[in-house]
Amino acid sequence: MGIISYIREEIQVIRERDPAIKSNLEVFLYPSFKVILRYRLAHKLYLKKHYFLARWISQRAARKTGIEIHPGATIGRGLFIDHGSGVIIGETTVIGDNVTLYQGVTLGGTGKEKGKRHPTLKDNVMVSAGAKILGSFTIGENSKIGAGSVVLEEVPPNCTVVGVPGRIVRMGSKKVPRTDMDQVHLPDPVLNDIRNLQEENQRLHNELKHMIKYMKCFEKEGYECPGAEEGAGKAEESGGEQR
Ligand SMILES: CC(C)(COP(=O)(O)OP(=O)(O)OC[C@H]1O[C@@H](n2cnc3c(N)ncnc32)[C@H](O)[C@@H]1OP(=O)(O)O)[C@@H](O)C(=O)NCCC(=O)NCCS
Repeated sequence: MGIISYIREEIQVIRERDPAIKSNLEVFLYPSFKVILRYRLAHKLYLKKHYFLARWISQRAARKTGIEIHPGATIGRGLFIDHGSGVIIGETTVIGDNVTLYQGVTLGGTGKEKGKRHPTLKDNVMVSAGAKILGSFTIGENSKIGAGSVVLEEVPPNCTVVGVPGRIVRMGSKKVPRTDMDQVHLPDPVLNDIRNLQEENQRLHNELKHMIKYMKCFEKEGYECPGAEEGAGKAEESGGEQR
């Protein structure tokens, strides 16, 4: 695409997605406009294996705009990065068409993967301010990632994800009830810890109940109460079932 068509397209994209813009001339002031223009050049150089020059352009653009796009990233048409500051797009990120990112977004790796380490964002995805998408998985078309979320697993199309770790709260036009969260296999270590503590608490409660029963029996009868130990054993076994 030539520079004139690029500028025309950018004017259209920014006017569509930022209600704050008042004139076409303002497009030249947008960090998104500046950085994507430089990214397109850096990406061409990267594909021709001029890695140093490509990184040099990308780093200069990052200093000017606060948006660091690795020249190896693959970006479709119509990307808009609103405000811009603190946005990072990793080397193996793939971004489809008409994607919107806000300030503070990271499309990064977890540090555990090799090869493709960064996410793939399909067409029309919106990633809100401060959201982090970490790892090599896909965010489906038309999905929205809420402000401040940390997304660590695949998101199907047409979903809204919020929270840390990210949970699907809306699928299509339907709200997802919080009890159905397991369907999307998003990890929830805090909930798991709470469940473990509940189980442990129930087990201890049952054991204590049988010890009290045993003590009462012992006080009354003056000898070991028949069946008390058996009862305590049962309490331990049934600890997980009674909650
Ligand atoms: C996620 C978002 C896009 C809304 O998407 P939506 O599909 O319309 O979802 P809803 O507003 O119906 O919210 C669904 C649920 O998620 C909750 N939620 C929404 N955004 C959230 C967020 N960022 N963090 C935590 N929970 C959030 C809502 O309270 C609601 O919870 P409930 O079901 O218990 O009532 C929006 O809330 C958001 O984060 N926008 C930020 C945009 C931005 O970055 N602006 C910066 C401009 S400078």
